[in-house]
Amino acid sequence: MGAHNPSVTPEQFSTSQLWIQNGPKAQINSIETGWAVYPKLFGDNITRIFGYWTFLLCMQCLILLADGYKRTGCFNMFCPGFVQVHSSITFGELLEPVSIYNRKLHFIPVMVYRAPISGNWWLRVSREVIGYWPKELFTHLAHNASIIRYGGIAGAVSKSPSPPMGNGHLPIYKDSDIEKSGFMREMKVYNETRDTIYFDYTKTQTKQDARKDSYDLNYYFSERDKWNCIKYGGPGGSSCL
Ligand SMILES: *[C@@H]1O[C@H](CO)[C@@H](O)[C@H](O)[C@H]1NC(C)=O
Ligand SMILES: *[C@@H]1O[C@H](CO)[C@@H](O)[C@H](O)[C@H]1NC(C)=O
Repeated sequence: MGAHNPSVTPEQFSTSQLWIQNGPKAQINSIETGWAVYPKLFGDNITRIFGYWTFLLCMQCLILLADGYKRTGCFNMFCPGFVQVHSSITFGELLEPVSIYNRKLHFIPVMVYRAPISGNWWLRVSREVIGYWPKELFTHLAHNASIIRYGGIAGAVSKSPSPPMGNGHLPIYKDSDIEKSGFMREMKVYNETRDTIYFDYTKTQTKQDARKDSYDLNYYFSERDKWNCIKYGGPGGSSCL
């Protein structure tokens, strides 16, 4: 995914991430990882690696997140579960370099995969193995994922305007303009036989919860040439919804 540093106030946060999910809505199991600018969580406006997951034992963590992120779940360091393996890179790690608007796009490769024998979900960032979420944390994700999502979340405590997402610029529908907005490419999954494949394009959907002049999403793919990407994000604003 593209590495960016959207500008947020202390009341706001903005993420770019992927989701690995399974289960019905009320008991959804979700692993989420990517980067975030999140002053309330990290204490600064730097782009940092985060991991988030929902599981049944972690209700108390909701309290920590009650302002703006109203879900049952655990951000990285606040909850047990994730098993750190890398000796130095962990959640909260600052992400650099970030992209420079209109000049240089920097990428951070992020990969989550299930080890076939242990069933644990491993995280790799920039080709480094960071650690894993043990399968015992999950019910519906114990065997496989049913939904993979890519994109971002931009939020704020109530009444604050919504912050920028991606790099803060709306995607422009033009192929060569990849450096102009939030960007992700090579979105792939393991199939049942553990081959890395692009999505079955008949099963992908784009979804946005906000006005198109606040945030937008363009999805591009070529089944024949085997590539895909999304351009996403935007400036946010006071009347996003
Ligand atoms: C995914 O896991 C469920 C059990 O949670 C199983 O019933 C299903 O067959 C699995 N699907 C694949 C494709 O392995
Ligand atoms: C997984 O992907 C490989 C490579 O594209 C393909 O040959 C295989 O049939 C796929 N397996 C399933 C179960 O779709």
